[in-house]
Amino acid sequence: MTDFAKTKSLFHLPQGLVYLDGNSLGPLPRAAVDRVQSMMQDEWGELLITGWNNAGWMDQPSRVGDRIGRLIGAPAGTVVMGDTLSIKVYQALSSALDLNADRKVILSDTGNFPSDLYIAGGLIKSLDKDHELKLCPAEAVADNLDEDVAVLLLTEVDYKTGRLHDMKALTSKAHAMGILTIWDLAHSAGALPVDLVAADADFAVGCSYKYLNSGPGGPAFIYVAPRLADQVRPALSGWLGHDQPFAFDLDYRPGPGIERMRVGTPPIIQLSALEASLDIWDLADIHDVRAKSVELTNLFIELVEASCADLELASPRDSRQRGSQVSFRFQHGYAAMRALIERGVIGDFRAPDIMRFGFTPLYIDADDVRKAAEIIEQVMLERLWDKPEYFQRAAVT
Ligand SMILES: Cc1ncc(COP(=O)(O)O)c(C=O)c1O
Repeated sequence: MTDFAKTKSLFHLPQGLVYLDGNSLGPLPRAAVDRVQSMMQDEWGELLITGWNNAGWMDQPSRVGDRIGRLIGAPAGTVVMGDTLSIKVYQALSSALDLNADRKVILSDTGNFPSDLYIAGGLIKSLDKDHELKLCPAEAVADNLDEDVAVLLLTEVDYKTGRLHDMKALTSKAHAMGILTIWDLAHSAGALPVDLVAADADFAVGCSYKYLNSGPGGPAFIYVAPRLADQVRPALSGWLGHDQPFAFDLDYRPGPGIERMRVGTPPIIQLSALEASLDIWDLADIHDVRAKSVELTNLFIELVEASCADLELASPRDSRQRGSQVSFRFQHGYAAMRALIERGVIGDFRAPDIMRFGFTPLYIDADDVRKAAEIIEQVMLERLWDKPEYFQRAAVT
């Protein structure tokens, strides 16, 4: 059984705050400070460029990828780190379209994260081969799978509502029709058990700065099923995805398997921070995390609904259909979230009216949930959100 008191003690959590936004940016693992400092002083400082060989920097994207692989049911050697998630979406989608070149439709849902859809739209324009991005409501995805679809591009857990797709069932139905699948795990990795092998997913991508706590701007990951990894053509054919980067050939030749999804120089400082977080993840069982998350989200819904009639649940009530976040709709959700943040409950807001709260058992417990619910009740019942300054939108919501 995971010792959640222990894992909580390993994060820096500012005094007096209840941090319910780890689904957006995870908090600082205490050990990351020393790990990054040591990377800078002992590795960068002392080893200088020899760190690429002598401190293992060059292999770090694969080493760390393997550690993330353990959280998402991906075997060693199938996940690599680098770049941002938007770029990994581009890589996965361009490779998948290439593998299914006779078909022209990319199917996604209207709840997908806009960056994934923008990337798809931009890629379609660059390819200029009559591809089409087709969107349907999340609940209609299965019915929209047909033999025109080349690629199914979905985010497993909806970033706004927390609604969870059935990855295994959709992948299986897609495969039966010759469709390749790309799963965006931004809100799944570290939030709930994912088993890419059991689901038979073709591609998966995700970020590390949410539930995996790598810090702002931490690198993304990409998974390609082993049966495809040696076939895919990397659209971003950078030198570190080359079979022999240091041969400096004038022609590109993709590296073996997942290595070809590397592009350029990896972010070593940020990968070091992520390693400190993964040391905490080594103490946790993702099934325990899921069980605790269900407990916390159920408690939160019960307490908030009992006291705040103005907040309408936007997440599925059935925990089996929900990721690790709870969202409520409220017309003045932005102002209400600002009022909460000022009172030490940090969640976030997604336009037009969603107040979003993330639950991360590694460092959030039932006492935090009760405390947050009490403050939410006070803010709502006393209309503490109704102040002009709370309506001024900041650049990041
Ligand atoms: C589901 C999903 N996909 C893609 C992205 C974009 O990630 P990045 O900014 O790392 O490219 C995000 C960012 O939050 C996201 O939540």
